[in-house]
Amino acid sequence: MALVALVWIVGILLLASFLWVKKRFNFWKDRGVEFIEPEFPFGNFKTLGKVEHIAPITRRHYDYFKRKAVPFGGVFMLTSPLLYILDVKLIKTILVKDFNYFPNRGVYFNEKDDPLSAHMFAIEGQKWKALRNKLSPTFTSGRIKMTFPLVVDVCRHFCDHVSEVVLKENEVEMHDLLSRYTIDVIGTCAFGIECNSFRDPDNEFRRYGKIAFDKLPHSPLVVYLMKAFRSYANALGMKQLHDDVSSFFTKVVKDTIEYRETNNVVRNDFMDLLLKLKNTGRLEESGEEIGKLSFEEIAAQAFIFFTAGYDTSSTAMTYTVYELALNQEVQEKARECVLKTFEANNGSLTYESVANMGYLDQCINETLRKHPPVAILERNADKDYRIPDSDLIIKKGRKIMIPTFAMHYDEDYFPNAELYDPDRFSPEEVAKRDPYCYLPFGEGPRVCIGMRFGTIQARVGLANLLKRFRFSVCERTQIPVQYSRTNFILGPANGVWLKVDRL
Ligand code: HEM
Repeated sequence: MALVALVWIVGILLLASFLWVKKRFNFWKDRGVEFIEPEFPFGNFKTLGKVEHIAPITRRHYDYFKRKAVPFGGVFMLTSPLLYILDVKLIKTILVKDFNYFPNRGVYFNEKDDPLSAHMFAIEGQKWKALRNKLSPTFTSGRIKMTFPLVVDVCRHFCDHVSEVVLKENEVEMHDLLSRYTIDVIGTCAFGIECNSFRDPDNEFRRYGKIAFDKLPHSPLVVYLMKAFRSYANALGMKQLHDDVSSFFTKVVKDTIEYRETNNVVRNDFMDLLLKLKNTGRLEESGEEIGKLSFEEIAAQAFIFFTAGYDTSSTAMTYTVYELALNQEVQEKARECVLKTFEANNGSLTYESVANMGYLDQCINETLRKHPPVAILERNADKDYRIPDSDLIIKKGRKIMIPTFAMHYDEDYFPNAELYDPDRFSPEEVAKRDPYCYLPFGEGPRVCIGMRFGTIQARVGLANLLKRFRFSVCERTQIPVQYSRTNFILGPANGVWLKVDRL
């Protein structure tokens, strides 16, 4: 009897869930929005993380909506409705003019139990605004200029190391190697620490940085549920980061602060500025009062500068050398441009000269088009928003997505989009395009704060590498490169092996 009752209850529950999901999947149809038929129960992202990265999935969705010639289109992430924004004018409106409707990304964080997760990329509302205001001066060109000698110094050690490596074995996995360069740059600029990750294969920064990105403490489904039901997940004390990652970075920041305060060390790096804000709440040169930072806030920001800064830049550099290895003529042209700059500056690079390596920059831009490390931009509606010239209201809490990667392959903006062609980024060609069809660093008030720093780190690294080495494909080079399925960053799944010869 009891068993029969149980079977009935389970049956009714299953039927109720099925009907609920069916009704939910009518969400876009009911609102007259063009949508892609979802599959029960995973919606339109069934293959995410299991078979492929989100980038190719969004590209298929984008192509579908593009054929329908609609400015936006609906899909479902599991059962949650998600709206793609495709029209470049609408993208600009949402990211910039109507930013106050979409100020947040809807990323999971838990300030109380997992303080390091409350970093600038994740936090929201007034807290984000105050923090961004406090930290923006850290990334002005004057400030970055101060860290420039540190970057150049790391780069010199790095190139010497590459030279030693290729003497022994000239087929090299570039992603791992370049991660070590960017780890050392960010380590020295954000933490004031010489990580020395080139010479130490199991370097702690590299290890914990990899864990922070590659090994999420929860399955994609749980991560999704944490995002969707953040207040419940917060109440349950659920964390975004592994405890050992948090402990490592918190300890590094604590030790650094103690050391600097005890020994009065001044290094003109990001940590110096964070410390000034911690102690005085003002910036030295302007004397402007911008509010103090707590230890937890400093640790979280140093952590995001490290994690956001190293993998994005090393991935961009890796794909640049990969594309240059495939396109030898382009490589030669980039090298000529670099050598001219070195020559004009007595064999070295200055902060100013790095800004004038036009063709190298075009190559980096073209790489960021074909392989943008951050493949999508996300925003959450903070209040109800009526899409201009339409009847559609995006309700508070709903998610929108701008499919950057997919747009970078739109033939209307980038004809013959599979081709690596840095000339697309000549000043004349750039002037012909709407700037909102190319968004590797995002846009609006939440644009990447480290854009300038990331670009300079890549330029210095690539210029020195091109000066000293030639890159070509070898048997182990995977062509086309396969993207990792599981990383947030659009990294190479199996690394990028290249033949590297000293010049
Ligand atoms: C090639 C290198 C890089 C790329 C492609 C990149 C890309 C991005 C993108 C697409 C966003 C989201 C923007 C948006 O939603 O509109 C972002 C945000 C961010 N990036 Fe970067 N990034 C790079 C380097 C860096 C570096 C070097 C740092 C720090 C040192 C950094 C720190 C951040 C932070 C803190 C945010 C969040 C900003 C906010 O929400 O206010 N990034 N980045």
